[in-house]
Formats: sequence, C-alpha cells, structure tokens
Amino acid sequence: MTDLHGFREFEHSGWQGIPQQYHQAFGELTAQSIEPLLDAADVKPGTKVIDIASGPGYVAAAAARRGARVIGVDFSAAMIAEAQRRNPGIEFREGDAEQLPLGNGLFDAAVMNFGILHLSRPDQALAEACRVLRPGGRFGFTVWAKPEETVGFGIVLGAIAKHGNLNVPLPEGPPFFRFSEPDECVRSLHGAGFESPKVVKVPQMWQLPSTDSLFEFMKESTVRTAGLLRGQKSDALEKIGDAIRDELKKYQKGNAVELPMPAILASGTKP
Ligand SMILES: C[S@@+](CC[C@H](N)C(=O)[O-])C[C@H]1O[C@@H](n2cnc3c(N)ncnc32)[C@H](O)[C@@H]1O
Repeated sequence: MTDLHGFREFEHSGWQGIPQQYHQAFGELTAQSIEPLLDAADVKPGTKVIDIASGPGYVAAAAARRGARVIGVDFSAAMIAEAQRRNPGIEFREGDAEQLPLGNGLFDAAVMNFGILHLSRPDQALAEACRVLRPGGRFGFTVWAKPEETVGFGIVLGAIAKHGNLNVPLPEGPPFFRFSEPDECVRSLHGAGFESPKVVKVPQMWQLPSTDSLFEFMKESTVRTAGLLRGQKSDALEKIGDAIRDELKKYQKGNAVELPMPAILASGTKP
C-alpha cells in the first residue's frame, strides 16, 4: 500500500545525504534539459520564476543568467545549502513542493526539473505550481523517459529483475515512471487547472567515466534506486553489478561510456 508519509521521509533523508554525490553523477545530465525547460516556461529577462525542487540550483542559475528574477525552493536543507553555496546571488528557500511557502499569483513562470517523480503527492504539487502563478503564467516540468529509452535505468532495472528482486520492502510511493507517459502528463496538467498542455521529448546523453560508474552512481547518488539496490542480498548485488558492467560495454566510446537518457518535458499555461 502507498505510504505517503513514509515515502516522503525516505526521500527527504535520502536527499539530505547526497547533494555532492548527486552533483557529481547527475549534474551534467539533468542540465541538458534546462534550456528547453526555460523556453517552455517562457523565461526571459525580467520574468519572475520559481524553481521548484531546485536541488543544487542549476535551473535557477540558468534562469538568472537569462536575466530572470528567480527563487529556488527545495525541501532538503542540505540541497538548499549547496544551491546557496553555488549561487550566492540567488534566493533559495526551504519548503515543500506540495505546500509552497509562497503566496498566490506571484510568478510568471514555474519550473521543476526532475522533481515531480520524487514527490509523494505529485498532483498536489501541480496544483501548488498553478496557485503561485499569475493568470497566463507558464509551468514546465521534466521527468525521465521510460526505462526502455533511458538506457541507464533500463540496464539497472533489467539487471535487478534478472539477478535480484524488484520488490524489496521500501516505503511505497507513486510510480517512478508515471509522468514518462505523455498522456498522463496532459491529464494531470489539466487536472491541476492548466490549459494547452504540451509534451515533448528532450534528447540527453549521459557521459560516464567508466563501466563501473553506472552501478556506483545508482548506489551512491540516487534515493529510490539506491534503496532498491541496498535491499538486495549480497550475492545478488554482486551479480547485478557484474551484469550492469557487462551491459555497459555495448555503450563504450573510447575510455568513456555514453548512455541515451532522454527526458519528457511537459508544460502548460495557467488560465
Ligand atoms: C533529482 S533532484 C533534481 C534537482 C534539480 N532540479 C536538477 O535540475 O537537477 C530532486 C530534488 O527534489 C527535491 N525534492 C524531493 N521531494 C521534494 C518535495 N516534496 N519538496 C521539495 N523538494 C523536493 C530533492 O531534495 C532534490 O533536490
């Protein structure tokens, strides 16, 4: 059964411990969606923007470089500290995407890069994004495409399915790939009150230093996938690691590894 409180706590304690690891593993990858995301939210000089689930603050920083006036919100104090350290000129505030600590109608644009798939109540967060926008304001979010296309997830989940157990006990949250389905994005954006929803795919490529990196990054720099790996028996985990390394050889380019990791970018307008 879905355990919303337990899941939120699990996500929160996970993110609190990994700002540096997340940056090292995913910083250059999730950054590849930022410009399309800011375009979808119509961020220009002077636009008032909220970056929701801002993590280390990459999107907020890019919005500020466009001349936008931006604030970042994240529920992890450690992430907020990291974002503030990287971007001393930008305001970051601790707060929950499902209950934003900001008033109604304050923003022209709201963006959430790879945040919604970590929330216990994503529909509530969509409604909150809508609430803080002015009429005519734009909202955009990104998630990972399905594991058949995001090769890094496909390889890891495939190796766990083959050598381990995909159903280890973890606080159950909403499906990780729920918003990888464009129709679901459209339905959910409409449900939260947005109009003219649009969904596109953004090609992204994950450059990994070696065939060891995917297993290490998934173990050390994620929350839900790391929990899944931690829950495996030790002999299974060894086989999973070997299978992942083996599979990655197909994606080797010289000394490095290149994995397609496309994003789904959904956006809509507040009426
Ligand atoms: C995958 S990271 C994305 C970070 C960043 N947006 C990026 O572009 O890389 C997910 C972020 O969502 C934050 N987060 C998860 N649940 C949240 C919630 N309920 N409210 C606010 N932030 C949340 C985490 O602390 C983490 O910083």
